[in-house]
Amino acid sequence: MSKTTFSIIKADVGGYPGHATVHGELMEVAEKKLSASNDLINYHVTHCGDDLELLMTHKEGEDSEKIHSLAWETFQEATEKARELGLYGAGQDLLSDAFSGNVRGMGPGIAEMEFTERKAEPVVAFLMDKTEPGAFNYPLFKIFADPFNTAGLVIDPSLHAGFRFEIMDIKRDKTIMMNAPEEIYDILALLGAKGRFVINKVYPKEGSKLPSDEPVAAVSTEKLYQIAGEYVGKDDPVAIVRAQSGLPALGEVLEPFSHPFLVSGWMRGSHNGPIMPVSQKDAKCTRFDGPPRVLCLGTQVKDGKFDEPADLFDDPAFDMVREKSADIAEYMRRHGPFEPHRLPMEEMEYTTLPEVMNELEDRFQ
Ligand code: 13P
Ligand code: 13P
Ligand code: MG
Ligand code: MG
Repeated sequence: MSKTTFSIIKADVGGYPGHATVHGELMEVAEKKLSASNDLINYHVTHCGDDLELLMTHKEGEDSEKIHSLAWETFQEATEKARELGLYGAGQDLLSDAFSGNVRGMGPGIAEMEFTERKAEPVVAFLMDKTEPGAFNYPLFKIFADPFNTAGLVIDPSLHAGFRFEIMDIKRDKTIMMNAPEEIYDILALLGAKGRFVINKVYPKEGSKLPSDEPVAAVSTEKLYQIAGEYVGKDDPVAIVRAQSGLPALGEVLEPFSHPFLVSGWMRGSHNGPIMPVSQKDAKCTRFDGPPRVLCLGTQVKDGKFDEPADLFDDPAFDMVREKSADIAEYMRRHGPFEPHRLPMEEMEYTTLPEVMNELEDRFQ
């Protein structure tokens, strides 16, 4: 059987209200557009916070012009609807007027992977709002490299050899492939600096049960590639992770989210705060435009088809994490404009801070 491609393409084309969530009519526009396509095997339209998310399966491979133009047109039509309804920041993430075959670098976020389906293919989509792609460094490292998270790394012979991480240096637009567990100290030296080094993809090793050239996890890193020349907001990221049979089990994939780790984003993309794993119902940003949310939808892909995804954080097992996240949010908020709640100055270059500094410059003695 030919390979299957799982694509998530997402954009904020207007918030309702403010940056909180997506208006139902935008989802209807997307639903209608995708249902009319002959190129998709299956799709699921949803949102996390104010980001409109298109989950799609097809046979067109990664970076397919057909699939990317379908997504682009969907976002354009949804933007028209957003303008009509007077939604906030209509077309926010569509940075260019001209589509040239590929949405990379044009504003929308993309996580895509093409793979040979196993007999049973569990696939999990993580959708985040009010944060940046580096927010996936911590959970993906835990899933694929930390034996305290993933028991299988120790006790399952099929993943004992570890995995390979493709890591991007955002500043220099270069990538490096690194091996876990051999190089975990060096990997962490990079990944800890999550605003600069970002996991792009994860691959099996040579000799694994799975083809070593087919990704097992992919993160959207697009907006980081492009130089917009102006502040375009944090790039609210998405990721796809495959599970089981030679890979971490589903529960090992979810386990890092039992800790509400700190991410940057939140209010005006300028604050550190805890991630909050939520159900679809709670995938909206409220308090101080947050706290940053992560939604997790899981499904089984068979010949490219998949059923209505399971809402995996819609579960009392994660109540305690949400409570802790709310506590940490409260603790961080009490710092007001002080670091480390507010991001460090270097990361605030698109705000009024440089202007304030300029104006005050003469008065420094
Ligand atoms: P099952 O025996 O239910 O397939 O579970 C195996 C497993 O990987 C659980 O983590
Ligand atoms: P979004 O990136 O989700 O649109 O949020 C922007 C913002 O400024 C939130 O306060
Ligand atoms: Mg928005
Ligand atoms: Mg958003």
